[in-house]
Amino acid sequence: ARALARRADAAGLRIVVSAGGTREPIDPVRYIGNRSSGRQGVAVARAAADRGAEVTLVAAHVEEAALVDAGHGVSVRRAGTAAELEAVMAELAPRADVVVMAAAVADYRVADVAERKLTKEAAAGVAPTLTLVENADILAGLAERRRPGQTIVGFAAETPAPGETLLERGIRKRRRKGVDLLAVNEVGWTEGFERADNALLVIDAHDEVVATASGAKRETAEALLDAILAVRSR
Ligand code: CTP
Ligand code: CA
Repeated sequence: ARALARRADAAGLRIVVSAGGTREPIDPVRYIGNRSSGRQGVAVARAAADRGAEVTLVAAHVEEAALVDAGHGVSVRRAGTAAELEAVMAELAPRADVVVMAAAVADYRVADVAERKLTKEAAAGVAPTLTLVENADILAGLAERRRPGQTIVGFAAETPAPGETLLERGIRKRRRKGVDLLAVNEVGWTEGFERADNALLVIDAHDEVVATASGAKRETAEALLDAILAVRSR
């Protein structure tokens, strides 16, 4: 209750948050997906709404249990593939003050989606090869079209290589995307995904770490919101 009473510091802001993982069809029954549950994005959306923002959650295959946590006061739009997500973001971003891309977007899609289910009979003993084509970088596009006063925020889940830090990777990625803030967290086979807890650091346009947080995804969401409001007020 104290946390809720503490601040309506995001009041008046329109925030669009993407969450979950896109799915790229192979045929009518199969897809290429990823392990994002959508929990981090949902936590950001919920926290922003509780702090007074007008929030739209763009859900790309968010686990139902996580989507329920978005709760009242958050409008929800759905997107299946990266292309659908790109279209919804293009529609909503122009009137948003803050855009947070927490969705795990497929980097590639299948070049020729099969009209009918692929069968072993038709393959006749030869394992199929999928040809992939690159999807548009939604976040980089949003950053390029950023309006004055608009804040564009990305997320990156990284598995650092030996001899390299999470921060170094994050700084490179933030520059590449051209975003105002990049929230970076370390993932592996066990960390990051399908878990309630999370640890992240937030990098700004001066390559400075402006927030670090660990704990429940709600806690890290609050820290990210603090960082967003801080960069907007300077
Ligand atoms: N992202 C996006 N569109 C894509 C790929 C990623 O908008 N086609 C966004 C994600 O939503 C996230 C950020 O970019 O906010 C970083 O995603 P990530 O997969 O780490 O970036 P990539 O540029 O795809 O780099 P990598 O090769 O490490 O996957
Ligand atoms: Ca990627």
